[in-house]
This record gives sequence, C-alpha cells and structure tokens, in this order.
Amino acid sequence: MRAVITATGSYLPRRVVSNEALIAQYHLDSNDEWIRTRSGIVQRYIAAEGEATSHLATEAARAAMARAGVFADGIDGVVVGTSTPDTTMPSVATKVQAALGIKHGAALDVMAACTGFIAALATAHGLIQTGMCKRILVIGAETMTRILDFTDRGTCILFGDGAGAVILEAMPEEKANGRGILATTLEADGSFGPLLGTNGGTSSTQTAGAMFMQGQEVFRHGVEKMASTTREAVGKAGLELSEVDWLVAHQANGRMIASIARQLKLDESRCIVTVDKHANTSAASIPLALDVAVKDGRIKPGNIVAMPALGAGLTWGCCVVKW
Ligand code: COA
Repeated sequence: MRAVITATGSYLPRRVVSNEALIAQYHLDSNDEWIRTRSGIVQRYIAAEGEATSHLATEAARAAMARAGVFADGIDGVVVGTSTPDTTMPSVATKVQAALGIKHGAALDVMAACTGFIAALATAHGLIQTGMCKRILVIGAETMTRILDFTDRGTCILFGDGAGAVILEAMPEEKANGRGILATTLEADGSFGPLLGTNGGTSSTQTAGAMFMQGQEVFRHGVEKMASTTREAVGKAGLELSEVDWLVAHQANGRMIASIARQLKLDESRCIVTVDKHANTSAASIPLALDVAVKDGRIKPGNIVAMPALGAGLTWGCCVVKW
C-alpha cells in the first residue's frame, strides 16, 4: 500500500502585519531593512483574538477536503503537528475532528516544534502502512504569536500564525503508479534543547511560556542538519539530488533556505519560498508552502518534492514524495 498526498489546503488569519507595523506596535529597536536582509521576512499573519490553533487547522482541513471532494465520513484519521494547542488537552486534532463532523477514526497531536508537520506525516504514513487508517488529514497548525516575547527583537520578528493541511490516502501500488511518500527521515538530539524553546509549560510553570532562541547557533544547525537529512532521505528513496524537482524546506529564514540549496547543489529556482509572506509558522510552514506551490502550478503530478525541517529539540527530518 502506498501513502499518496491527494490534496492540499491552507488557511491564514485575516490580519497581515508588516515589519514596520510590528516594530511600531511593540516599540522595537529594529527596522524593516534589517528584518528583510537577515531573515527574508516582509510580513506575517496574526490570528485574531479568540481565533485558536484549531480554528486555523479546521479551515485548512476544510480547504483540502473541498479540493479532494472528500466528506467527513471519508476521513478516518486526523494528525496535527503543533506546539501551540488551544488547550493542554484535549488535542487540536480532536477539536478539528469535532468541528468537521468526523465521527470515527484516530485523532492525535504530534509535538516536534518546527519539524511537527514532517513528524505528523511520518506518523500518518505509519497508520496507513499498518492498515489502521485509509484517509488521513495531516495538518500543521500554529499560533506562534501567542508564545512570543515581544520585548525580544531577535525572535518576535520571525514568527507568524497559519495552518496547512494535506490528505494522505492509502492507495494500492497499481493505482498509485509510483506516487506517494518514498522515504522519510526523523532525527533528534535533545542535548540541543537549550538553544531554542519556551521558558515555561504545563507541568513546570502552568503557563505556555515565551520563546527564547540562540539565533546564530540554530541557523548553523538548521543549514547543516536540513541539508544532511535531505541527502539521506533522497538516498533512501533511491534517488539522486539532481532528481529533486522542488525543495520545500521549513520556512524559517530565506538565507537559511538558500544555504541549504547551495549545499545540496540545487538551483535556488527549485526552492519554494514563502517565508517573505508567512514568516516562520513552525509546523505550518511546509504545508502552507506546499499549498501555494500546488495552487500556482509549480508542483505537478510526477514531481519529486523534498521537505526538510528542523525545530526545537533539536528535532529534524525530511520527507521525500513523488507528487
Ligand atoms: N533588529 C535589529 N537588530 C537586531 C534584531 C532586530 N530585530 N535582532 C537582533 N539584532 C541585532 C543583534 O542584537 C546583534 O547586535 P550586536 O551585534 O550589537 O549584538 C546584531 O543584530 C546581529 O545579530 P545576530 O543574531 O548575529 O544576527 P544574525 O545575522 O544571526 O540574524 C537571526 C539573526 C535571528 C535572523 C538569525 O540568526 C536566524 O534566522 N536564526 C535562525 C532562526 C530560526 O530560524 N529559528 C527557528 C528555527 S526552527
């Protein structure tokens, strides 16, 4: 049985905030030029008051289901990658399930920070391969702006809110015709925990905490590990790097994506870049970028798409898909 992505969908909050507007609102000692040149970010979307991660996730899922022509009774699994759930429990996935009227199947969240969507996809792939599920909504959804420290100019300018979803479907080899997930890598090294995280959480401070990051160190690990894990996943898929049509890397920083592409000797024209418009939406960044590139016709059936990510943990991994 193959696991094939049959549709994508996404959702962004209505409010768009430019670099200048963010700087003005939080009285940041920064400027548009610095943010653009260091990160490639021009704007971010910020969820409205009362708009929680499950709302964004539900809308992204609705969009993917509409594209696939699938109804609630055709979904038997919801896996959400997120680090910013509405509540500590129940999960975002169960809230999405309820909002969409899905009455059966599995629903769970996967927490791997910015690697969340790749970890969710790997989990869903496993559920399909073991025969537990047939058609799964795999979602990356975040309200990162809820855990930002707006006095820390080094981090608060980098993140935004949003959600992206795909439908991952079990398909017999004959019908899949080579399409589907070809290989996945997932890795972690918890000793790098102090580089990136929040200063609180449910069982420590009884709050969500606020983000901290050692930007330069994370940047270095991001380039090195996303490049190496892409190399490994592409090799596992039995392919050469030159056969990759699209690199849809975690959208953390435009310079980081360009460095990864250089290391992999992939032309920058083969990188999907949305960090300028969406900023870093953590687990939502890859499915948001996928949806953009599928809708504008760049990602076409038969294309090889490599999706590396790195996030707090550190966690990292890459999924290689034949579209
Ligand atoms: N505006 C203006 N200046 C800023 C600033 C801001 N928003 N944020 C930091 N600076 C300053 C720093 O204080 C520092 O000043 P100093 O030299 O006087 O101390 C200077 O700019 C350079 O800071 P540095 O951290 O070396 O910049 P950088 O080129 O490494 O870029 C990041 C900073 C955060 C953009 C970059 O490190 C990065 O993108 N890191 C990875 C972040 C990431 O992707 N994290 C998530 C991964 S999942």
